[in-house]
Amino acid sequence: MSFINNSFFVIVSILSLLAFSSNAQLSPSFYARTCPNLQTIVRSTMRQAIAREARLGASILRLFFHDCFVQGCDASILLDDTATFTGEKNAFPNRNSARGFEVIDTIKTNVEAACNATVSCADILALATRDGVVLLGGPSWTVPLGRRDARTASQSAANSQIPGPSSDLSTLITMFANKGLTARDLTVLSGGHTIGQAQCQFFRNRIYNETNIDPNFATTRRATCPVSGGNTNLAPLDTVTPTRFDNNYYTNLVKQRGLLHSDQVLFNGGSQDALVRTYSGNSVAFFRDFAAAMVKMGNISPLTGTNGEIRRNCRVLN
Ligand code: HEM
Ligand SMILES: *[C@@H]1O[C@H](CO)[C@@H](O)[C@H](O)[C@H]1NC(C)=O
Ligand SMILES: *[C@@H]1O[C@H](CO)[C@@H](O)[C@H](O)[C@H]1NC(C)=O
Repeated sequence: MSFINNSFFVIVSILSLLAFSSNAQLSPSFYARTCPNLQTIVRSTMRQAIAREARLGASILRLFFHDCFVQGCDASILLDDTATFTGEKNAFPNRNSARGFEVIDTIKTNVEAACNATVSCADILALATRDGVVLLGGPSWTVPLGRRDARTASQSAANSQIPGPSSDLSTLITMFANKGLTARDLTVLSGGHTIGQAQCQFFRNRIYNETNIDPNFATTRRATCPVSGGNTNLAPLDTVTPTRFDNNYYTNLVKQRGLLHSDQVLFNGGSQDALVRTYSGNSVAFFRDFAAAMVKMGNISPLTGTNGEIRRNCRVLN
């Protein structure tokens, strides 16, 4: 019996060591000596970008999500396709949709000027994401740092591991579980849809065919999203305050004004209804949980130590 207990304990210890070692080296002070002005540079470049176009804060947040869900938060999404390299930018969830890459380029240029060949593109994306959320009125959090940049990308993983807008709740829960995230994490991270825009082609079926939708909301959205044509016409994911990071995403869901099918499934008589209701009435709880879940998502399989590289140009392998 004690043998079983001991070996059980040893196995559990080894498993937790393995699980922990993947991000054991991430630390908020990773660049404290090597690039002391890093956070100031990222913040001021993001401030300029958002002053030009508020939506860029949303676009960067989505880039981080799509980066972390494909082989971890390793800046794989930032690599351009070449004649001999297939990256993730032309995967279905990203093609003609993922945006904000120029902002990351500008931050990288500014960071390189201050701290040459020191800061990874993966960490720049993590910091820029946090700053975008803060600058649009959302919560702040301390960003663990020390990620390194991938020397690979995976278009096929981007196609199969990033959820699509017609997903049902069970699919979303499974796809988040595959990344070590819970159903609660799914519901709180989907609150990222309090900012930004979506194309008609991704919500057309919802506004014409679904019944769990506020009819006035459907009519409004149909005005700029016709039955055919207008595929790329945009509508705000949060119809009330599209450039303000707040809890209106959840108040919309409670009123059946979720834009995407994958939004409204979080409040459609299922397991996430209670949490959606909580966040719709408690932005403090939403902000607290969102910040914690962003740190958790940012810890998905980072490259650390001598793995990967510090890319000189976020679009190109060294
Ligand atoms: C739960 C599964 C999710 C699905 C199915 C989904 C799907 C989508 C779709 C279809 C769009 C519109 C893209 C376009 O029209 O080009 C979008 C936009 C966006 N998503 Fe998600 N998303 C999900 C989760 C998340 C998460 C976890 C975050 C961040 C924490 C996020 C942040 C955003 C943002 C900020 C935008 C607006 C981007 C912009 O305006 O450029 N999404 N999402
Ligand atoms: C920056 O670092 C790279 C790699 O170490 C080096 O090749 C390059 O000359 C450096 N550039 C400047 C401006 O110091
Ligand atoms: C509504 O659903 C039908 C049946 O699935 C489909 O053929 C049609 O394209 C949908 N309409 C829109 C506008 O998406």
